[in-house]
Amino acid sequence: MRVGVDYYPEHWPEERWPEDARLMREAGLTVVRLAEFAWCRMEPAEGQYDFEWLDRAIGVLHAEGIQVVLGTPTATPPAWLHERYPELYPVDQRGCRLGFGTRLQRCLGNEIMRSYSRRITEAMVSHFAGNEAVIGWQTDNEFEANLCYCPDCARRFREWLRRKYGTLEALNAAWGTVFWSQEYSAWSQIPLPWQARCGTSHNPSLWLDYRRFASETTLEFQRDQVEIIRRLAPHQFITHNFMGLHDSMDYFALGADLDFVSWDNYPGGAWHADRDPALAHDVMRGIKQRNFWVMEEQSGIPGWERMGVRPEPGQIRMWAWQAIAHGADAVLFFRWRSCLYGTEQYWHGILNHDGIPRRRYQEVQRFAQEVASIAGALDGSEPRAEVAILNSYEQNWALQIQPQVDGLDWWSQVRRFHGALRRRGITVDLVPISADLGKYRAVLVPSWYLLSPQHAGVLTRYVQEGGTLVLNPRAGVKDELNRCRTEPLPSLLAEVAGVEVDDYTPIHGEDHLVLWSDGRDFTARVWAEFLIPRGAEVIGTWERSMFPGEPALTRNAFGKGICYYLGTLGGPEAYDTLVERIVDETGVTPYDGIPAGVDVQIREKDGSRILFVINQTAEEQYVPLPPVSETLLGPQPEGAIPVPPYEVCIYRISS
Ligand code: GAL
Repeated sequence: MRVGVDYYPEHWPEERWPEDARLMREAGLTVVRLAEFAWCRMEPAEGQYDFEWLDRAIGVLHAEGIQVVLGTPTATPPAWLHERYPELYPVDQRGCRLGFGTRLQRCLGNEIMRSYSRRITEAMVSHFAGNEAVIGWQTDNEFEANLCYCPDCARRFREWLRRKYGTLEALNAAWGTVFWSQEYSAWSQIPLPWQARCGTSHNPSLWLDYRRFASETTLEFQRDQVEIIRRLAPHQFITHNFMGLHDSMDYFALGADLDFVSWDNYPGGAWHADRDPALAHDVMRGIKQRNFWVMEEQSGIPGWERMGVRPEPGQIRMWAWQAIAHGADAVLFFRWRSCLYGTEQYWHGILNHDGIPRRRYQEVQRFAQEVASIAGALDGSEPRAEVAILNSYEQNWALQIQPQVDGLDWWSQVRRFHGALRRRGITVDLVPISADLGKYRAVLVPSWYLLSPQHAGVLTRYVQEGGTLVLNPRAGVKDELNRCRTEPLPSLLAEVAGVEVDDYTPIHGEDHLVLWSDGRDFTARVWAEFLIPRGAEVIGTWERSMFPGEPALTRNAFGKGICYYLGTLGGPEAYDTLVERIVDETGVTPYDGIPAGVDVQIREKDGSRILFVINQTAEEQYVPLPPVSETLLGPQPEGAIPVPPYEVCIYRISS
């Protein structure tokens, strides 16, 4: 277990470095990430490398026992490079070229950009491979899909399509370009999906291929760096700082080349506060189905031009413990000290601008000391799940390309499943369809909109062999090319689900009610399907809708397993009922009696189970406990414990 911080020695006078390093050691910080935006200092002029200042900074830190992760600096190429090659600036969807003065102003597909990326990476890694303080590398910073519309991307997209389809005839057939007279007679005619005007839009098949291409472009850019680091520094690890629920690129593919995933956790972020990052942690753990690092953990008020919400006293520590509960093996706080200049002056760090340790420093120090005191119990442990939710970036993109109706988006669907499972304290993995599904008692699937025969086979076999599968509406609507399928829905999953969709409608705010067969009801939202059972048992019917009395929810016994088909979405109560059924039928172990706003999570190793109880609320909460064999953090348990606001209790439990 490690606790650390993101540090920018290049922002501070060298005379301050020893003081910073001493304060870090006294806070219990043992690892720093450095240099991911320092290209202009490491290569001030083309081919002239200067790593001496960084050697000295690392030396100062190492003298205090601190280890180092280095970032490749390619998120912010220097001004000299852009001045020489203005074509490196990406072009946005409206055709405007970006300019200098912010970050990410580079097209990752551009060959010149790639060659300069390889050069700076090679120079850095050659220099630091032998430095005993350097334990690993972070590629770039917060990669996104290269959604660039420059002429070079247009050319490479056409080459990519040529490799994929071989001939224009095949491409025309695959995309159905006869629609709106779009048949291509030369590769050069194929456009990128420009921002559409006058309410018109692009061919969904073209669009999906472009999203795949843009994601692969970023992947290849990273792969250049990974190949260099593996070759020159095989003993140092490689990771990247992902962004939780960000979904522009295929995170499974991005993670495949890395040793482990890291991510940047800002629960009170300035732009999109997600005050319960439990889902994002589980998504990040699912990328490689193993523990992860938090490379940037919120440590103060966030903000660029405007400031976001202040973390309450105790909340920074609580969020950091929650990260560990969900599978983090290291937490690095962003950033050490609030910067005096630049865009992020108000993105506050552990220290304020004055550099004096205050309340947040003490909170981080307390956290680091606590982690160190129970690291032996935590090292090697991990969350283990009996239930999975499938995650897929391609499905997500297809729903972004055609949202169909508000609320059908991927994460809204995932949140419904995840929220209900977490309310019962059930550990959840978010895994790709290629994962070993057989180890899960239940697998829940948001709209599996693009359905290939291979995926249908995987899901069908999972049920056949005894799994419990839950399918959401809009499963099997399309094929992998984003064309509508012709079989009755849910097309290739109709047999395993034992059901056929007779008709459907988006719900635009009308009042639709579904009645479970046990008498409970829920208000349907977003989407309504009217089902014809083909062997399945009806477990919910439309009470108020355009076809009252028709089936809305079904359950089908198939092979050794069960397939649920949900013909609608609902509010939390709908999923609470569903999870109750799953718990009863599959023997998944719930943790009952969790008050709202409390996150309960277990990490396991060698038969030992460590329970984390995290109160995310501003009120004291009473949480029931199973038999405890050891108190690691918090009060001695007596059946139930009072957990003060933003507090964390950790126990070794015997069952
Ligand atoms: C992250 C990023 C950091 C810093 C931080 C605060 O997304 O990786 O470099 O910008 O946000 O804005």
